Amino acid sequence: MLTEEEILARLKPGCICKGIKLHTILTAIENGADTYEEIAKRTNIGGGSCKSKRCRAKVAALLVKQNQ
Ligand code: FES
Repeated sequence: MLTEEEILARLKPGCICKGIKLHTILTAIENGADTYEEIAKRTNIGGGSCKSKRCRAKVAALLVKQNQ
């Protein structure tokens, strides 16, 4: 069960240019997506005004954290 802090963290932006929440990205990772490309395909992140710079870095950090 998630703590209140974890729930609030998941409501933060994942892809700010498309309004996609972090929990959408985390759910994709929890369901087996393990590359930026796969996560982008499942969540529709990327291709926004950041040109994948911001969200790619965010996903990379989440994947590192997931694999620790
Ligand atoms: S943060 Fe939206 S496309 Fe990268």
